[in-house]
Amino acid sequence: MKPRDAQWWRRAIFYEIALISFQDSNGDGKGDLPGLLRRLDYLEWLGVDAVWLTPVYRSPMLDLGYDISDFVAIDPAFGTMTDFDRLVEELHARQLRLILDFVPNHTSDQHQWFHESRSSRCNPKSDWYIWEGPGENGGPPNNWLSRFGGTAWEWEETREQYYYHSFLVQQPDLNWRNPAVREAMFEVMRFWLRRGVDGFRVDASAVLIKDDLLRDNPPNPKANDKTPPPQRLEPVFTDDRRETMDCLEEMRQVIDEFDARVLCGEVQGKTDRIGHFYGAKKPRLHLPLNFALLDTQWETLSVQANVDAYYKAIPDWAWPDWVIGGHDKKRVADKIGQPQARVLAMLLLTLKGTPFFFAGDEIGMEPVSIPPERVLDPFEKLVGGYGLNRDPERSPMRWDESENGGFTTGEPWLPMGNILERNVEQQRRDPQSLLSLYRHLIELRRREPALAEGEFLASRSHSDVLIFRRRLNDVEILVGLNLVHEPRRWEWEGSGTLLLSTHLDRKEQPLKGPTLLRADEGLVVKLDR
Ligand code: NOJ
Repeated sequence: MKPRDAQWWRRAIFYEIALISFQDSNGDGKGDLPGLLRRLDYLEWLGVDAVWLTPVYRSPMLDLGYDISDFVAIDPAFGTMTDFDRLVEELHARQLRLILDFVPNHTSDQHQWFHESRSSRCNPKSDWYIWEGPGENGGPPNNWLSRFGGTAWEWEETREQYYYHSFLVQQPDLNWRNPAVREAMFEVMRFWLRRGVDGFRVDASAVLIKDDLLRDNPPNPKANDKTPPPQRLEPVFTDDRRETMDCLEEMRQVIDEFDARVLCGEVQGKTDRIGHFYGAKKPRLHLPLNFALLDTQWETLSVQANVDAYYKAIPDWAWPDWVIGGHDKKRVADKIGQPQARVLAMLLLTLKGTPFFFAGDEIGMEPVSIPPERVLDPFEKLVGGYGLNRDPERSPMRWDESENGGFTTGEPWLPMGNILERNVEQQRRDPQSLLSLYRHLIELRRREPALAEGEFLASRSHSDVLIFRRRLNDVEILVGLNLVHEPRRWEWEGSGTLLLSTHLDRKEQPLKGPTLLRADEGLVVKLDR
């Protein structure tokens, strides 16, 4: 690997892989490390710079591996530590980086730490989880809810106390107020950093510390009978507490013991809270993940406003990022439609900020319908009826037109839908496919430093056309995106070189404004000086 540039993550394009859904190598219907190793050529061909891998650790797999029973072992279903070391080595040999999911908030109830902790009130780990006696009425200590339904407190007969779980009953929360827990988790980070990983995506990083007075959460004023029950209280006393920020600062110090690593983080909540996850006097996350493009309504004024609100919400010195997919998120191609998925790809790869997308987004994967008897997501099983199922976007990658899309020779762990409709091989052959567009955009972002590093200059968007510019030194690039399915006149003055159209049917050529954008067309233009 080339000498490390400390801030490589500013120019990198991140690709999230849910390992279980990427490539199976042994016919058990689940993706694994040897399978991923077979697909590294694809990653290189696509042009991404870094992989974020969902948890690969030993786990009972009740929640896609986010229920971890050993933080420093590879789950046998995924392969071995030797496979893992090979992955790091081979990615680095290709100048690709690897970040792992770090899950500090909770363990599996099968973790040795929890076995010890639950065994009595006076063992060395008795204080490693959050234990409380019953509340006034003899029931749970307060009204806090699990995100996966019902009270967040579970009675433990042996200790005659409740333990707290933000998520599943089988995912007890660690007690981050305990310095021994922090140190143990920092050692977990060091274990992987020493093995060469380039950083982490911190899972649920906003909820590590809960109110020490255990104050009840208030009702959510926006809730109605369509609101999933876990969201009917506002998580004021469980999420985004001041003390959680100290934990992130300490995690960052661990990261900074090593050169050129990155700390990304899942931060729930609204855009206006994202800024403080970067830190101030002391740094916290390099990249608090920003889902504004997924949360916005897909129409010009809303997108323009959301982009603006996000840039305004982060400190001047902070580096932005944009996420358009993930293992918890509905597939965006379904929400906005295939033609606009191309426009979104152009937006993602021309905005200022590190782009993140989820394996399958580059071929426009849509949610796969899951018959009730095949539902696996605990969220849907426990809080059904509110459209929360995450299985549809976790359906395995479709590589080709062979049986099970080249993903497995066995029975895929989730249904795969119609693989003929959309798969990698088919789109590789088609020079105008969405996949081809992703490749061109990635290549363009690499070729034009103004796109990767330049400042963002807002323009006034009009008549369904989203407009902005990127500038670095004396290079200025103009982007115009038609967000509707009809042609639109794009008012701009001057002249330049058309670098790319989302339709991939126009060569580089001189262009003068104003321009007629075709339905669903976006253009990138390098302005003449
Ligand atoms: C956040 C992860 O992204 C999600 O998939 C998981 O269910 C929860 N954390 C609980 O670990």
